[in-house]
Order: sequence, then C-alpha cells, then structure tokens
Amino acid sequence: MDKIKITGGIPLKGKIEIGGAKNSALPLMAASLLMEGSVTLSNLPHLSDIATMANLLVHHGVCLNINACSDYKPGHDGRVITFSAKNIKDLTAPYEIVRKMRASALVLGPLLARFGTARVSLPGGCAIGTRPIDLHLSALEKMGAEITLDTGYVQASAKGGLKGAVIEFPKVTVGGTENLLMAATLAKGTTVMKNAAMEPEISDLANCLVKMGAKIEGIGTRTLTIEGVKNLHSVNYAVIPDRIEAGTYAMAAAITGGDVELLGAKREIMGATIDVLRQSGVEITETKNGIRVKRTGGLSSVNVETEAYPGFATDMQAQLVALMCVAKGTSHIAENIFENRFMHIPELMRMGADIKINGHTAVVKGVDHLSGASLMATDLRASVSLVIAALAARGSSIINRVYHLDRGYERLEEKLRGCGAIIERVNKE
Ligand code: UD1
Repeated sequence: MDKIKITGGIPLKGKIEIGGAKNSALPLMAASLLMEGSVTLSNLPHLSDIATMANLLVHHGVCLNINACSDYKPGHDGRVITFSAKNIKDLTAPYEIVRKMRASALVLGPLLARFGTARVSLPGGCAIGTRPIDLHLSALEKMGAEITLDTGYVQASAKGGLKGAVIEFPKVTVGGTENLLMAATLAKGTTVMKNAAMEPEISDLANCLVKMGAKIEGIGTRTLTIEGVKNLHSVNYAVIPDRIEAGTYAMAAAITGGDVELLGAKREIMGATIDVLRQSGVEITETKNGIRVKRTGGLSSVNVETEAYPGFATDMQAQLVALMCVAKGTSHIAENIFENRFMHIPELMRMGADIKINGHTAVVKGVDHLSGASLMATDLRASVSLVIAALAARGSSIINRVYHLDRGYERLEEKLRGCGAIIERVNKE
C-alpha cells in the first residue's frame, strides 16, 4: 500500500494549479442520468472519487467519451468527458460501488425522476459519522415517491412520475439539496425547497441544469424554486475550481511561512476560509490568475466553528486544526456538521501538538514546533491535515493509507514538490 514521506521545514514557494471541484463534478456527472442527451463536462479533476462515480454511471448504462471536444478553454489542465445516458439498462446502484463513496446516492433523484423507479444501496456509516440519507428520502416521499427499505437497499418508485411539492429541510444538507434539485427538474409542477444548501457546488449544479433547460429560481439562496419541465437537452459545462483544494494549499503555504500563488482559485467562493486565514496573520491578495497566499510574520490563534456555506466549511476543519497547532495562543475550533470528525487529532498529538477535545470543540494550544512521525490517514480531509502538519514539522513523517488522499487531491506530491516541498510516494507491500 502506498505511503507518503515528507521531510518538513521548507517554506513553500511557487505556483499551484487548482483543479475542478470534486464536489461539483460528482452531482454534475449524476445529472447526466436525467436525459437522453449528453453532458460534456470540462475541468474535471482526475481523482478516484470521479472514477467511482464514472464506474457507477457505466454500470447504469451511461456511455463515456473521454477527452471529448469542448468549447471551454480553462487555461489549466482539466479533462473533458462526455456522459451519454441514452440507453440506461440497470436502475440499481449496487452496494459494491456505493460503499466506496457516499455521493453515489446522488443517482437516486435523477433515476427516479426519469424512469419512475430506482434501487440504491444505503451508504452506511463512514469514518466521520453515521451520515444517513433520511432527509433525501423523506423529501422524495413528499414529491410522491413510495420508498421501502429492503435488504440494505432503498427501493423508490413514483408510478405516475414525481410531483412538485414544498419541502423544508429540517437541517441543511448538500447531498439532499442536490438529489432533490435534480429530481424536481423533471417533476410535474413546482417544487419549492426551503432551507436548501447554498454551497457554490449547489449553484454550479443548478446553473448547469438551467443550461440543460431546467427552470430554477433562487440560485445561490436558501430557497430554490423549480418548475418541472418535460425534457432536458445536451449541455457543455465547465466545473468550478475546487475551493477546498485551494483552501488546503493556502493552509500549507501558511503553515510553512511560504508564498504561493493558487492558479484558478476563486476568492468569492472561498469567503470564510480567507477571512480565517487573514485573522490568523496570513496575507491573501487576489492576482490576475487566482490568489496569492503569503506569511512572513507569526500565526495567531482563531476561534472558529464549522457551518453550512457561507460559514466555515467542515471540509476545511482538519486543515485549520493542523495550522493552529503552531499558532500563538489557544484556538477553539468547533465541529458542528459531523459528529466524529476529529480523527486527525490523536495523530497530530503524536507529532507534539497540544490539543484537547471538549465535546465537539477542539481546544488547540499552539506549540513551538511539531515533530515528524509515522501517521495514519483516516479520511480524506484528516489525511491532508497530516500532510500540512508534516510539511512544517521538524524531521520526516510517513503517512500511511494515502488512498484517502487520492479520493480528493490530484497530483498532490507533484503540486507540493513544485513549490519546493520534499515529498515522495513510497510503495511498500
Ligand atoms: C457534502 C460533501 C462533503 C461535506 C458535506 C458538508 C459532497 C460529495 N460531499 O456531503 O464533502 O463535508 O457536504 O458540507 O459534496 N444528514 C442527515 N440526513 C440526511 C443528510 C444529511 O442527518 O439525509 C446530516 C449529515 O449526517 C451531516 C449533515 O446532515 O451531519 C450535513 O450532511 P450533508 O450536507 O448532507 O453532507 P453530504 O452531502 O453527505
């Protein structure tokens, strides 16, 4: 199994290209199931989660054409794939694929809306908590779906098609909003989704659906109104840049006292991450091609809680905890979205960090330095927080189970090495 070896202490200097957003690409790929026409996506990141979604779509019968032509000229590499769901042959999303990636549940809404029936394995728990999809299911029921649970599978049917409804989510859910948004585009009548998620990735999906012929109002707000249409049509669409990848490299630049330009990063979708970095003493400026992150002085502690967008993202929490390990003073970082998202903390403590967990708050007391260690990656963002810590630590670190990183960070070692980091992937049986 691959491991990553990092020798820390080198300030990162240079440029890093930010790829397309994984969390936009996944629902955009699932949206291809809504129609016979094709969805051509450019700026797709090259990640194992994208391959998992592609495998699931192929299982349903979707044809993929890699490196199709597109009118999008991104200025940095991104692959182009055309997804054509003309001949769907299987309406079941099997456990073997869904267990690898929870976002597989995003095929439920489109399949049900187009074919009136779908069978999707329940995703089960994961390293960061139980993560049910009950809110997706109860919202689909409001739209007239009959849902039964059978041997670990959700069996959904809507014989006369889905009907528009007023849905108020009791809690903001990104995946739930996406599933319902896709389902509602083909429903009869109008659907109003209240307390919808308003992450930039939701707006990306909604904008693409509109380009496909969907009628959606309120994009970028907590209330989305969708008037169902009979058919959607083919589309060419470029995935937005990954704000979490950009935020992660910003933290890496900050912890090493570096100076890095993040090419393609968009400040306007990184709001709270940039605010928090600035509060901690990091200089951030917009450039012609992205944003520049630079730290010359010391780091100060911050008090932050994770919230739905536009609040501070839970997907940036582990990276911020790593950064605050070497800041002056004591930081309080509360995790409000997932119940078990502190798996990186015991590993950071093995590097010399001073952290106490108080309920759902990490109390991080800055130390003079971290020391390299042998570390275990547990989930995607926890793993990259260990990379960030190792880049600043004295001595070398080995990070085990790096397949977690490959789910969400494309060419991580290459991008960091390009800025001077000593990092290599070692393959040991
Ligand atoms: C998405 C992101 C993930 C991010 C998360 C929160 C993708 C592919 N993944 O995950 O990276 O960390 O948003 O920003 O985009 N919940 C329920 N019932 C449901 C649905 C959710 O209780 O039916 C709970 C979850 O357990 C969690 C919270 O709601 O505590 C938010 O989850 P949700 O926004 O749905 O996250 P995902 O869409 O799974």
